[in-house]
Amino acid sequence: MADGPHTVFIEAGKVRPELFDAHIERRLSSMKGQYLDQEAYRRMLEEEDRLLYEVYELRRPEKEGELLSGISIVHPGKVGEEYFMTKGHFHEVLDTAEIYWCLSGRGVMVMETPEGEWSVKDLSPGTVLYVPPRWAHRSVNTGSGENLVTFFVYPAHAGHDYGTIESKGFRKLMVDRGAGAEVIDNPRWRG
Ligand SMILES: [Fe+2]
Repeated sequence: MADGPHTVFIEAGKVRPELFDAHIERRLSSMKGQYLDQEAYRRMLEEEDRLLYEVYELRRPEKEGELLSGISIVHPGKVGEEYFMTKGHFHEVLDTAEIYWCLSGRGVMVMETPEGEWSVKDLSPGTVLYVPPRWAHRSVNTGSGENLVTFFVYPAHAGHDYGTIESKGFRKLMVDRGAGAEVIDNPRWRG
């Protein structure tokens, strides 16, 4: 963990920052039940436990006043018609926001509140996205063959609630049914 004032250089086109404390890898097997086409998921998993996304974290003490940041990389690909995506989460401390800055690739952030509002925002290089407090968020790589790379920063005491999304899903999904990326209702959403 870097202490005191410090800088981290993120070289354009490279995903691995020069400084990080943790490297998290999420594979297909960790997304059980999350993809709409369960049969496609099963077949794909039988073939290979593909790497879907990675996170490089810059750690700080998880207390109010501190900020956590890092780089998220969602690899390109689809399970059936549905694009590779992150698990998605609410913050445990619901009233905390997050900022994402897209460094490379193309994608969207799928977001929703516990009250049922939803939003899908495009991410392309240069986009700075503000995720307000209370909004669950999931990055989706809708590009054609490129990594979706974003820098994120959020309050260090926010924590992660993955369980709500794991059991309910998101209300909206990102699929390609032949005409590129489109938002559809999640027929398996369990409210
Ligand atoms: Fe977050």
